[in-house]
Amino acid sequence: MKIAVACDHGGFALKEGIKEYLISKGVEVVDLGTGSQEPVDYPIYGRACAEAVAAGKADRGIAFCGTGIGVSIAANKVKGIRCALCTDADMAEMAAKHNDANMLALGGRRTSVGKAIEIARTWLEAEFEGGRHKRRVDMLNEM
Ligand code: RB5
Repeated sequence: MKIAVACDHGGFALKEGIKEYLISKGVEVVDLGTGSQEPVDYPIYGRACAEAVAAGKADRGIAFCGTGIGVSIAANKVKGIRCALCTDADMAEMAAKHNDANMLALGGRRTSVGKAIEIARTWLEAEFEGGRHKRRVDMLNEM
């Protein structure tokens, strides 16, 4: 599994923590920046992560900013992306099972590294249920 990660300055520390976790689990990580806490603009990074996933350069993506809101808005503008901003593991499970979310957004100023690992692990382990959810995801993909 290859996962693209990207963040703004508000998500930098959390991105580094999650990257370490993913690498320890044998996941190939494509880091699209930013590389420090120097202020940058979150739309650039949410979009870069989403475009990597949409282009098939990564299987999934995780984007980070202060709240997770900005990068999720940016990512969801890219065709084919279903980016879920999650603040707990239950949301992450539903995002995978019902929404077939191919991207996760996390808030570096809202979510601890420990909690974020729990969220990411849950999202990666849960499987899309298909069935009635497929019809709805197909509708999203048409938009
Ligand atoms: C940056 O200060 C902050 O606005 C950004 O990280 C993010 O939270 C936006 O949604």
